[in-house]
Amino acid sequence: MKRTIKSVFKKKDKKKIICLTSYSYNFTKIIDDLVDVILVGDSMGNVLYGMDTTRTIDDQIMINHAKAVKKAADKSLVFFDLPYNRDFSESTTVKRVLDIMKKTSCDGVKIEGNTELADVIKYLKKKKVPVMSHLGLQPQKYKSNKKFKIYGKDKKDLENIISDSLCLEKAGAISVLLEGMLTVIAKEVTKVLSIPTIGIGASEYCDGQILVSEDMLGIYNKNQPKFVKKYIDLSEHIKFAVKKYSNEVNKNKFPNKKFRYD
Ligand code: KIV
Repeated sequence: MKRTIKSVFKKKDKKKIICLTSYSYNFTKIIDDLVDVILVGDSMGNVLYGMDTTRTIDDQIMINHAKAVKKAADKSLVFFDLPYNRDFSESTTVKRVLDIMKKTSCDGVKIEGNTELADVIKYLKKKKVPVMSHLGLQPQKYKSNKKFKIYGKDKKDLENIISDSLCLEKAGAISVLLEGMLTVIAKEVTKVLSIPTIGIGASEYCDGQILVSEDMLGIYNKNQPKFVKKYIDLSEHIKFAVKKYSNEVNKNKFPNKKFRYD
């Protein structure tokens, strides 16, 4: 059955919300009925395009990938990440979100940012666009992902994130993604909010979990943060298959009678 915003985001305190990233049609087909939400993340800048930052992903690249993912997703909800932009004004942000929504038919958007987004979220709510906020470590704030800092080392961080998350909830966010932070902070934010939190590097106390698929499948092996659990080493499986293929072609074992037109 096709998931709905209501069926997924009302799971708080009942069941965990399962999320993963995808950027392609094929991969989405594989995971579609196994997760609640698929995020077309700007992490594709790192794990697909080999860039050092997520800032290189622009709206057109996002549209191309989100369209492919949405086409393949029969069951799960598809959210796109609003790409980095120097112009953070309310009008530009709203215009870009509505444009990407229209071109991709996604189910919602995730936006990195704090209370400056409150009016954007209010406006998008009126336009029936579900928004997932993104607090804590915000990769778009960094020019290189080698310099990421875990959120919560500062005394004021707990107070700030609680007031920010309450403000964004009040504005109409349907969920808050919490990235790279101390457990005590994720636990407290999850407790004070009535909307669900989705964690990545934010402990088991969140209402849901997301990982970058390439990380958890062992396809992208650069810069692995502590919070990544590798569930399979697909790189090794791919290498094994390619070596076998190369060997068989060299030895004239493939192609053979079975794979040819006579
Ligand atoms: O771009 C991304 O993949 C993200 C992660 C937090 C999942 O934002």
